[in-house]
Amino acid sequence: MRLFQPMPLPGAPPYVVAHRGISSKAPENTLASFERAAGIPGIDMIELDVRLTRDEEVIVLHDRTLQRTSTGNGPARNYTLEEIRRLDAGSWFHPMFSDQRIPTLAEVFQNVGSRLWVDVEIKSDLLHRESQGLLEKKVLAVVQQYGMSDRVLFSSFDHRLLLNIKQLDSTARTGVLFDFVHDFGRSPSKLADRVGAKVFKCATRELNRRMLEDAHAHGIAVYVYTLNSAQSTQRMLSYGVDGILSNNADDIVSVVNRHGGRR
Ligand code: G3P
Ligand code: CA
Repeated sequence: MRLFQPMPLPGAPPYVVAHRGISSKAPENTLASFERAAGIPGIDMIELDVRLTRDEEVIVLHDRTLQRTSTGNGPARNYTLEEIRRLDAGSWFHPMFSDQRIPTLAEVFQNVGSRLWVDVEIKSDLLHRESQGLLEKKVLAVVQQYGMSDRVLFSSFDHRLLLNIKQLDSTARTGVLFDFVHDFGRSPSKLADRVGAKVFKCATRELNRRMLEDAHAHGIAVYVYTLNSAQSTQRMLSYGVDGILSNNADDIVSVVNRHGGRR
């Protein structure tokens, strides 16, 4: 598979990124959701969220706690991987997904890593932040073990974590996520440049043309989330964004293809 370049080639369409997999049609952040994305031509990348278990294994889970997306309860960090593997991570979405489990990052790479690029969002919460760069070190180790370094984008709302990643691997591709409260008033290029990131990611409503022009003038790619309708996708395509994160990336692909390349 081709290497991941943060900026698509000139005139090429923006990257289509399946946000938590095809999370509108399968339970988010499960192998079922990622496998669906891997089966759709035109989807370039999946986005997923990572955290640690009690025994410091890297798992793919959005929330700090287990109850919204599995039969578990409380912070995932309080449970070993063996305990987490016993949970049903699919029935909350639909009974037909009762066999789905919370996957490890390694399992995702093993199953779809040769077919898709992976946007690994490193989670850090107000209530819990791993100390001494532990999560970054563990994530990077898995990425390197599975030979995914050239196919991964590391992103985070906590830009210090991205700096840690760059210090551990200067060749890592990173993307700063815009936190409206914390980052308000700072330009995309300033936020990206100070941690060596090549991608700026924000919510659709947060983006304006001035931000886009600032990023592009500094060679920073702009990805937006979460675009689920043809109308919102068309608006962002007209802006000239470089990446589109969607919960129904399978539907968005045709909208992007009809539009053609970026300006
Ligand atoms: O990476 C973009 C997006 O996933 C950030 O928000 O809450 O869906 O992880 P969230
Ligand atoms: Ca995310």
